[in-house]
Amino acid sequence: MSNYHIKNLEEYYQVYRRSVRDPELFWEEIAEEHFVWRKTWRKVLEYDFSVPEVKWFEGAELNITENCIDRHLVTRGDKTAILFEPNNPNESPLEISYRDLYRRVNKFANVLKENGIEKGDRVCIYLPMIPDLAISLLACARIGAVHSVVFAGFSASALATRINDCEAKMVITSDGAYRGAKKIDLKGIVNEALESCSLVKTVLVSKRIDSKPNMIKGRDKWLSPLLDVASEECEPEVMKAEDPLFVLYTSGSTGNPKGMLHTVAGYMVYTAYTFKNAFNYKESDVYWCTADIGWITGHSYIVYGPLANGATTVMFEGVPSYPDFGRFWEIIEKHKVTQFYTAPTAIRALAKENLDYVKKHDLSSIKVLGTVGEPINEEAWHWYNDNVGKKKNPIIDTWWQTETGGMMISPIPYVTPTKPTYATLPLPGIQLALMDNKGNEIFGNQVDGRLCVKFPWPSMARSIWGNHQRYKETYFSQFKGMYFTGDGALRDEVGYYRITGRVDDVIIVSGHNLGTAPIEDAINEHPAVAESAIVGFPHDIKGNALYGYVILKEVGEGRDHDNLRKEINQIITEHIGPIAKLDRIQFTQGLPKTRSGKIMRRILRKIAHNELDDLGDVSTLLNPEVVQTIIEKRIKNELVN
Ligand code: WT7
Repeated sequence: MSNYHIKNLEEYYQVYRRSVRDPELFWEEIAEEHFVWRKTWRKVLEYDFSVPEVKWFEGAELNITENCIDRHLVTRGDKTAILFEPNNPNESPLEISYRDLYRRVNKFANVLKENGIEKGDRVCIYLPMIPDLAISLLACARIGAVHSVVFAGFSASALATRINDCEAKMVITSDGAYRGAKKIDLKGIVNEALESCSLVKTVLVSKRIDSKPNMIKGRDKWLSPLLDVASEECEPEVMKAEDPLFVLYTSGSTGNPKGMLHTVAGYMVYTAYTFKNAFNYKESDVYWCTADIGWITGHSYIVYGPLANGATTVMFEGVPSYPDFGRFWEIIEKHKVTQFYTAPTAIRALAKENLDYVKKHDLSSIKVLGTVGEPINEEAWHWYNDNVGKKKNPIIDTWWQTETGGMMISPIPYVTPTKPTYATLPLPGIQLALMDNKGNEIFGNQVDGRLCVKFPWPSMARSIWGNHQRYKETYFSQFKGMYFTGDGALRDEVGYYRITGRVDDVIIVSGHNLGTAPIEDAINEHPAVAESAIVGFPHDIKGNALYGYVILKEVGEGRDHDNLRKEINQIITEHIGPIAKLDRIQFTQGLPKTRSGKIMRRILRKIAHNELDDLGDVSTLLNPEVVQTIIEKRIKNELVN
């Protein structure tokens, strides 16, 4: 029996039990057998959730890129590491072999060094899904710089906030991006962001769309001439196990986005291990995850996890609807994709289109299907299973978070019997708990509660960049001695988990984690707005959409509400990005508040969901009468956008 590749359910339970009985031995065996180290560890795990402090493989030294690239050169030098599929289907795909990747990463790493980047410096990466994106992450990791990727759909102001928060010295971007039929001026967005980022000394610009962006002298440099003359050899920086690998921002329920800090060794071990098992990965597979590398899914399961296993990982630049709604299925057929990993929101959007788009393509190469990012509803699950999986491929519904670094709850294909809408069982090493409101653990099956993790796992985030106190308060304070996920879950009669959704003020829209506070802050900047509150409501395709209650400073008959709605969404687009736009805006004269002045979102949520008979007790509110007014307006449907 091997811990590293679980083959049947009985073995899963054995491995799982062993991982709980002796977690240190369990992870030690995996770390020893499957990775290359410059020096091994003194201690596998040291932790204290009350500080909180977690250290895996203390004393060990390594470089993650040696594990993702160098060690494959002998046996897999000519194997495709990254298979790049461009936005335009008529442009040729690019096969980057492990040997090519080695050269390209080293050249890039040397360019970073020549431009003043040293171990520990933060580099912000704001790129579309082109090879330079994956390569720039690896180049940072090669020299020990800390990458902070910002999804290229974020606005200039959101980008600036993130650059300043981690005090990045450099930004890597491109002259622009293709997104379906559109071109996006990324460099323009960076220029605008950098007006408020004084620490950035250098901007490296990759050429993609042949635009003529404004290049600031002394600061901005085209990448390709620098890469052309750079050396193909760059010694990997020897890193300590707990040295930072990257920072990745995720929204919180309040305040600024949180820069989740991940460290080298544990992250590598865990993402590689879960990739292997959750995708039933085999040497000749062609694996495709449709996420963007700007999110954790792309970090862990486009770049690090697959490459650490010597896999071929597809990187797709475009969108599922371009040039038509068959693009995903066309790519699967074209590259004979064996594992396909996508988001429920994409499945729901494609399920709305003519089935011929799917039927036209030969999907027989598929072995495993995956979903991530939000709960998958039964209907979407069946559509995926029937039409893409042809009822013969397991679907892994993988639950995890930016904070967890890797998958936590997921079926193992051909091992764990799947059940629609259930993420099923914890992966080895993951010790879950359901907690009640009073802080007691709920034991047994057929129960639900708040989902926590009782014991450290190697890829957990170690801190919030620059704010360890917030890390402690957000994740380790609600339930003593536990990591709190922010999600609710139920455990069924056989111990399978189903995630029921967030229990805090984070809303998952199209699989993107959006905090309500930053959106409200943006809206409140509109000169006509006095106050606002955002809640989620169910949406056919996006899973959840945003519903905004907005109080205006002056209420007058003559106000042009349609125009205000447009302006409010415009402000949100500028501050955060188009993903945070509101689907519905209801103007109101008040918001239900507790006596201490806290907005009662529970009530606003019910009204947005149209669950009007079930509002609970409103009498303890400061202003109970306001609830009726909001409902009346809701009924009159004064909120079409
Ligand atoms: C939140 C984390 C994991 C990478 C993408 C999202 C929700 C994630 C599932 C799933 C139900 C899910 C949770 C979680 N979520 N996967 N399979 N079933 N909900 O990462 O942006 O950090 O969001 O996404 O609510 O807490 P993220």
